[in-house]
Amino acid sequence: MFKSLVTGGAGFIGSHIVDKLLFNGHKVICLDNEFADNDQFYWNQSAQNVKGDIRDSTLLNSLLEGVDYVFHCAAESRIGPAIENPLNTFDINIMGTANLLQCSREAGVKRLIFSSTSSAYGLNKVPNVESQPEDCLNPYSVSKVSAEKICTLYTQLYGLQTIIFRYFNVYGERAPKKGQYCPVIGIFLRQRAAGQSLTIVGDGKQRRDFVYVGDVANANFLAATTIIPNHMFGQVYNVGQGYNISINDIAKLISDDHIYIPSREGEAFENLADNTKLKTTFSWKPTITVQQWINNQS
Ligand SMILES: NC(=O)c1ccc[n+]([C@@H]2O[C@H](COP(=O)([O-])OP(=O)(O)OC[C@H]3O[C@@H](n4cnc5c(N)ncnc54)[C@H](O)[C@@H]3O)[C@@H](O)[C@H]2O)c1
Repeated sequence: MFKSLVTGGAGFIGSHIVDKLLFNGHKVICLDNEFADNDQFYWNQSAQNVKGDIRDSTLLNSLLEGVDYVFHCAAESRIGPAIENPLNTFDINIMGTANLLQCSREAGVKRLIFSSTSSAYGLNKVPNVESQPEDCLNPYSVSKVSAEKICTLYTQLYGLQTIIFRYFNVYGERAPKKGQYCPVIGIFLRQRAAGQSLTIVGDGKQRRDFVYVGDVANANFLAATTIIPNHMFGQVYNVGQGYNISINDIAKLISDDHIYIPSREGEAFENLADNTKLKTTFSWKPTITVQQWINNQS
């Protein structure tokens, strides 16, 4: 049994990581300040639940005692709000991550897995490979790429084992459905349930790599538990399905009733993960496609 801290553990992805760790018999501390504009927070009552902020080092120092693994999901996690409030985004996503790394280092944490984003690739050609240069189109991706670099620095300079995961478009149970900035599948399902037309942004031809949240939680679990050579720490790994689909095709799977709304600034046209590195390093494989998952939703 090991002990973990999951930051942002009451949010969409973090709560699945908490559940996965508890299911496997491990001890979990869940830290979340309920900052996100989510419909709901998911506090698993079998975890030690703490409502607090990753920028509070006194709190972190007390929580990190005896912690083996840190799963760092807490963030301003949406592009739209980050464009509206860049300084707050930099403070949470960069300074918050730096604070967590420093406290983890001081506490002797074994490994830290950082939730970063495929939006680091911006307008790069697909498939997106980890060796591509970053192309940050908005404050959110700047903040995440900056935090990635701090993770790598903590590995190289201080020997803290970090793993940087660039998630593509994560979907599944508990995906936020509230507001215009929540992930697209959540918006479409909410609109269908309310009997409304689905609102497709732009011409709907933009293509996204959708990856299931349970598979993302599993990638985090494998990242903590797999023995890998030292030089594989401090590196970026794509967490995506390795297949992409247009938003028009996603909409068609959910409803025939669509309208088009203006496109948004700061978003890439297409993403597609080359997930070879993740698969070969951690023996990860996806278990479900987005089409199968949507077809199972009533
Ligand atoms: N959902 C996706 O498709 C996706 C894609 C790429 C990257 N990510 C990244 O994965 C992580 C999890 O994303 P998510 O979709 O679950 O988002 P989410 O907003 O549901 O979860 C983030 C959680 O962090 C908490 N939080 C925010 N600021 C905090 C702070 N200062 N201290 C403590 N808690 C704080 C929020 O209250 C929220 O519960 C984020 O870092 C996000 O940037 C998500």
